[in-house]
Amino acid sequence: MKLGVNIDHIAVLREARKINDPSPLDALLICKLAGADQITIHLREDRRHIQDTDATDIIRLSSIPVNLECAISPEIIDIVCSLKPHRATIVPEKRAEVTTEGGLALEENFNAMKEAILKLQENDIEVSLFIDPSMKSVELSKDLGVEWVEFHTGHYANIYAMLYGDLASSHHCIKELDLSRVELEKMLSDELENIKTVAKLASSMELKIAAGHGLNYNNVKYIAQIDEIEELNIGQSIIARSVFTGLQKAITDMIECIK
Ligand code: PXP
Repeated sequence: MKLGVNIDHIAVLREARKINDPSPLDALLICKLAGADQITIHLREDRRHIQDTDATDIIRLSSIPVNLECAISPEIIDIVCSLKPHRATIVPEKRAEVTTEGGLALEENFNAMKEAILKLQENDIEVSLFIDPSMKSVELSKDLGVEWVEFHTGHYANIYAMLYGDLASSHHCIKELDLSRVELEKMLSDELENIKTVAKLASSMELKIAAGHGLNYNNVKYIAQIDEIEELNIGQSIIARSVFTGLQKAITDMIECIK
């Protein structure tokens, strides 16, 4: 199981002051020393955290692969093609959202998606699609010719949070459902079963599988046990812990959890 550390949240802190501290660049060496396999960043259209210069410098200076998350707007795809990260992960983007709230709507955007994917691949960038773990999304991803899919684990994290009162993974969009413990346990085991089944399907189609969103030191264990999933991309929980323990320890702690 590989770990991609999403360092956007360092830029979130910097942008709160609009100064140059803390710099996401300072995280690169620490991530590498701690044993992370990949740096993940998201160049959002609204540039709310990672800026173009960050993306350029991170891709130039990182000694481990960089996974650049992006939407399919032509402006952003052109930038990604010129930056040539190791991988581009296409994600849905809504201006009003606090974070990426769900997977891509592949059917609705099939043609635009195909165009963006081809352009990235022509530039020697491998492509991943951030999808909800469903059979339909995996089949459409295969039709779109990508190398990777990344399963959005937000729904799983929300159920886990409701069941165990895990405040660390409480997602802002958790709906207050009046469910009993038994019902929540069933929801969690159904969702895990769904992720496993869809992972098996994706693997049988020779898609590589990553997963991420809302994963933390408590809930990551069940996802990390799914053999077909090769990589986890984790941001918020690692950067949150790093405030208290330092980044290197926060990453090594997470690596311990996913081993
Ligand atoms: N993977 C993708 C595609 C993402 O967009 C994000 C951030 O929203 C993550 C993983 C990491 O999510 P988190 O910060 O909740 O760990």
